[in-house]
Amino acid sequence: MSKPTLVYVCSKCDAQTPKWSGRCLSCGAWGTLHEENAPTNSKQTVKTEGVASELQSFAQDVSEQAQTRSTKLSALDAVLGGGLVDGSVTLLAGEPGIGKSTFLAQLSLAMSDREGKLLYITGEESPSQIQRRLHRLVKDIPASMYFLNDTDAPTVAATIEKEKPALTIIDSIQTMSTPDVSGDAGSVSQVRASAALLTQAAKEAHVPLILVGQVTKEGDVAGPRVLEHVVDTVLFLEGDHEHRYRVLRTLKHRFGPTDEVALLAMTERGLQPVEDPSSELLRDRAEGISGSSVTCLIEGRRPMLLEIQALVSPAGYGTPVRRGTGVDTTRLGMLLAVLARRAGVNALDKDVHANAAGGIEAREPSVDLALAIAIASAAKDVPLDPRLGLFGEIGLAGELRPVALPEMRMKELSRMGFVQAIVPKGQSKNAPKGLEVKEVGTLREALQVIRII
Ligand code: TYD
Ligand code: MG
Repeated sequence: MSKPTLVYVCSKCDAQTPKWSGRCLSCGAWGTLHEENAPTNSKQTVKTEGVASELQSFAQDVSEQAQTRSTKLSALDAVLGGGLVDGSVTLLAGEPGIGKSTFLAQLSLAMSDREGKLLYITGEESPSQIQRRLHRLVKDIPASMYFLNDTDAPTVAATIEKEKPALTIIDSIQTMSTPDVSGDAGSVSQVRASAALLTQAAKEAHVPLILVGQVTKEGDVAGPRVLEHVVDTVLFLEGDHEHRYRVLRTLKHRFGPTDEVALLAMTERGLQPVEDPSSELLRDRAEGISGSSVTCLIEGRRPMLLEIQALVSPAGYGTPVRRGTGVDTTRLGMLLAVLARRAGVNALDKDVHANAAGGIEAREPSVDLALAIAIASAAKDVPLDPRLGLFGEIGLAGELRPVALPEMRMKELSRMGFVQAIVPKGQSKNAPKGLEVKEVGTLREALQVIRII
């Protein structure tokens, strides 16, 4: 038998190199290369004869008849376009502590009236911890809920094929390992090999499988990226631990649209869907205080009003602090420069903190105007009318650029009782009755309309 050749694999980007170095040459990460056995048959070129296949025309109906079954969790059904498909593999990714296990405990309870067993593979936590979580959600745990405290992927795969559970949850894929592959559990090679085995088992048994994938703040750690190609669906649960709200979104979905999102709130009884995001997100708004503005995001296909807050204060010694929670800090720096150079509001030497209320990620460029106005309002200590809404992207020249779906945004502002809006040029068409919409061409003009400058 020939000696296996070693390769070095980066746990961040999965690049392979024959020589070890402290830094991955492909993605530039430090200390991420680890040793793995190269595939043994890589040098043998075995020629396999293929058999020519019949071609099909796209003019025919080629829709896949996937049997979608409701999970009875409305938020999950919404992002999956109806429910889970038998034999499908779904990855639920998110940072530790964000609520993945809680959501899956709720899912298994919601599905417990289906025929068949529900199987929870516990690797991340002990069975008693999971049992305690279930007890937090219900008094009596259904008898059909089973667990297996095992991290050996072949054993779990064989169990899935034998039991054919109505749902299998692997919490998490980073704890699974396969003896045939080198590397510790959680390494790229182990995650990939274990996921491949489990996926095959789910397809064979024709049952749905959910894999939990842990992600760090930097989006690192073997898992989600490596798995995206293996699974049918990738769901992402995001938000800020310190806040109530979580956004569940689809990043990949073989059986339906990928632009649905659901807003959830972490409560005493798990994650609950938020029926009216705008009114919930604006509920705790402090009115009449400077440094607060309201914008309208489009999340998935739904409009969502969001408060943007800014605080401008004298800087201590050294470089002024610029901090953003839920808003892009690079964008924050750019807007501070544009405010100073193009609109005469200079906060460049001040400490600036900005955040999107509720721990929501407001990364759309349409947030620019509300963010710039919140900073100017804070810097000049001029509160805004609480019934004023703003949206628009800001360019480096201080110009206001159009954004997608202005009508939907204006309609939502109007529905929520807003009476005034400032929008980019050409975007006030079909404004709803009762909403006085002002089109402006520049940030300076917007500041003048609001009488901040
Ligand atoms: P968890 O679901 O364990 O997160 P993950 O699996 O993504 O690491 O925990 C999320 C947090 O939610 C945890 O701090 C406890 C809290 N929690 C609630 O607030 N309400 C609940 O009903 C439950 C079950 C958990
Ligand atoms: Mg967990």
